Amino acid sequence: MHSLTIECTQDEKDELLGRLWELDTAGVTEEDLTANRVSLRAFFNEVFEASEFAAFDPVWQEEPNVDWQAESEAAWPGRPVGERLFVAPPWCEEPTPPGRERLVINPGIAFGTGADTTTQLALEVLERTVQPGDRVFDFGTGSGILALAALRLGAAQVHGCDIDHDAVVAARADMPSEIGLFTGTLRSIQPQWADVIFANINAETVSHNAEEMKRVLKPGGRLIVGGIPPRHADRVIKALGAQEWTLRERVDRDIWVCMAWEDK
Ligand SMILES: C[S@@+](CC[C@H](N)C(=O)[O-])C[C@H]1O[C@@H](n2cnc3c(N)ncnc32)[C@H](O)[C@@H]1O
Repeated sequence: MHSLTIECTQDEKDELLGRLWELDTAGVTEEDLTANRVSLRAFFNEVFEASEFAAFDPVWQEEPNVDWQAESEAAWPGRPVGERLFVAPPWCEEPTPPGRERLVINPGIAFGTGADTTTQLALEVLERTVQPGDRVFDFGTGSGILALAALRLGAAQVHGCDIDHDAVVAARADMPSEIGLFTGTLRSIQPQWADVIFANINAETVSHNAEEMKRVLKPGGRLIVGGIPPRHADRVIKALGAQEWTLRERVDRDIWVCMAWEDK
């Protein structure tokens, strides 16, 4: 790979950029030199005769070949979460540490790669909450990461929904067939279906859906809510307390709160 660097004024820039793209550049970076002068660096596979840019101080340089796929894959290492889980992208070759369940998640368009604090908090609380044989509903499933964790920790049935159809399509492609994901809301679920509901969404959606979650949760069931900034925690506590649930655990980290509740 080679780069051609030229310098121009802001007024000359657009025309030069158009010409560089016509010449089939692989990409162009821009750097402001002064308020009115800019440096353009265009990348090409081969060096060519650049006399048409003679007025712009052209300089060719050889560039190291970068394997962009390897670079972006290296940015997603496998990561242990909580005591029992290990989140890894499909290309990760690192073995699962002993005593942990591997969650293979493709960091794509859906929220929930395992790198975000809010997802990590939910996973940590989840591994203390889900019991073998549970029926679990993942409200706001995103990538499906919490649903997958529930399955790996022994849940008997796992369903989830999201209002973002693209997220659901992407998650479905990667999840094991035992997990049923659909585009929609909690309303499609029959009363008292779930032993456990996850709602790692936001304070407003959690508070607004408190009654709906009460309808879907079995008596004695458990609920995990997250995606809640500390300043909104009281509002959520009030809304869930009104359903006569008991706060069993609260974890605060960075700018997020995650809570586990019990119908007791
Ligand atoms: C913070 S992400 C969490 C994703 C994943 N569960 C996790 O823990 O990493 C919240 C997800 O909830 C979805 N969502 C927001 N409001 C919703 C609603 N009313 N019903 C269903 N899904 C909703 C969003 O589209 C988003 O994918």
